[in-house]
Amino acid sequence: MYERKDAFYKRAKRAGYRSRAAYKLLELHKTFGVIKRGDRVVDLGSWPGGWVQVAAALVGTAGKVIGVDVVPLEPFSLPQVTLLQGDATDPALQQTLLTLLGGRADVVLSDMAPKLSGIREVDEARAHELCRAALRCAQRVLRPGGTLVLKVFMGPELDALLAEVRALFATVRTTRPEATRKGSAELYVVAIGLRAPV
Ligand SMILES: C[S@@+](CC[C@H](N)C(=O)[O-])C[C@H]1O[C@@H](n2cnc3c(N)ncnc32)[C@H](O)[C@@H]1O
Repeated sequence: MYERKDAFYKRAKRAGYRSRAAYKLLELHKTFGVIKRGDRVVDLGSWPGGWVQVAAALVGTAGKVIGVDVVPLEPFSLPQVTLLQGDATDPALQQTLLTLLGGRADVVLSDMAPKLSGIREVDEARAHELCRAALRCAQRVLRPGGTLVLKVFMGPELDALLAEVRALFATVRTTRPEATRKGSAELYVVAIGLRAPV
């Protein structure tokens, strides 16, 4: 287990990525082609910034990446990147995202995870609530036809959440990237083609 953790950590360090999580987004992109050149991407829960780095490289300078976290990120000197410190579940912050983008995003990424209390039931409930909040945020800021990549957690509420995602998007897949730590309860939902509201 630790060997694998070390391998991704060292690889990320060598490549100049701020987190090993960068490899999860790279794998998700390789499998599902989630981000295109020129896309406008919102990254929820972006500290320390590995996903922002990957997304910025994929969109290029014609695109835009807005990273949001309650924790402040070290700035990037990348013209396509904007960083916001705040709570992604706050409707005022979601409005700021729409204003900064000048419209809706092509892709919403959420790698958000709650602070753990160590009490399983409490942590499962918090994680689930955060996933639902990310989904609500995506509904507000994503354009019809857009893509959502959402970190979710195994638990009693997962099936209901997945049913909700399936009702909103044309194609929904769940996957566990190789860079995910063994024993972790997390997996990723890739939802493509947000249906237009009826
Ligand atoms: C696993 S880390 C993200 C790693 C990141 N994707 C990367 O590549 O470096 C999860 C982040 O979610 C953030 N987070 C949790 N709840 C949040 C919220 N309500 N709004 C914004 N960020 C949140 C945490 O502060 C934490 O930094």
